[in-house]
Amino acid sequence: MRLEIERLPSGNLDEFIQRFYEAEQPVILTGLESQGTKSMQSRIWALAHGEGGEAHNGYYSSPIGLGAGSVPVPEIVERVFSRDDIAHKPEPLRLWMQPRNNCTGLHYDGNSLCGLNWHVIGRKHWLLIAPNRLLPMMPLTYLTMTPDDFEPGPDKYDVMEFVVEEGEMLFIPRYWAHRVTTLSEVNANLNWVWTRRVPNRTTPVGRRESATLKVRSRIGRLNRYITPRASLADYGDGGPEMFDSYTRDVTKRELVRFVMGELVNCVMYPFRSAAVHNRQSRMHTNNFHDSLNPFEAS
Ligand SMILES: [Fe+2]
Repeated sequence: MRLEIERLPSGNLDEFIQRFYEAEQPVILTGLESQGTKSMQSRIWALAHGEGGEAHNGYYSSPIGLGAGSVPVPEIVERVFSRDDIAHKPEPLRLWMQPRNNCTGLHYDGNSLCGLNWHVIGRKHWLLIAPNRLLPMMPLTYLTMTPDDFEPGPDKYDVMEFVVEEGEMLFIPRYWAHRVTTLSEVNANLNWVWTRRVPNRTTPVGRRESATLKVRSRIGRLNRYITPRASLADYGDGGPEMFDSYTRDVTKRELVRFVMGELVNCVMYPFRSAAVHNRQSRMHTNNFHDSLNPFEAS
């Protein structure tokens, strides 16, 4: 089915929590434009060039307000990060900058991440697929094995397709698969991410994530060949208690069904692996280049 995404003023905090955060439904938050201040823009630019952030494959991470209080953190972000039902890294803010027509292939975010993704510069086209149906997945990971031009049929999947405009912020709940294409010459996004402490096992993707964790916790050294390679003990930065909460209700029957599904994925893998790995490398293409400072011109 084709679903429409809603737009909600970002000041409607209670409504956001009840209708979208708790229900794990995507929404576009509006009315944040005035917070894109000059000092914040120059701070973003500094971060993109390695000042005060930590470089990862394709993005920089930072403390919640880009460090040293230089950025007014949107109230809606503060509201989420003040909750005790989430865990997050000490640097939960990610900065992405990408050129036009950069396409991030279909995936859902690892570590059961949820995100508030603020489009500070530029517009992006998003395709979202609801977690009530499993996609073909790379065995034991959160990466899909779909071809680049995969079009999810609305008869099989619940799909949202939309453009997020500059200044708007997208809430992406955990397990919603997404494919993102940049539409502007320069695109900069601030994405705050966190993990809920309790799993959501009401959807097939949520149950698969729990089963994946349980199986991976039992295969020891084999984990080093699977993306992500990070220690399972660091899952979502919530410690052993959170890992246990995600895995303890997985039944033997679920595990059997899960292994059967992953075996099918294994059979498909040789035919799809090249496309998946190409996509992975493109995902890490960012334009943190020196020649074009979008903030100088503004
Ligand atoms: Fe993502």
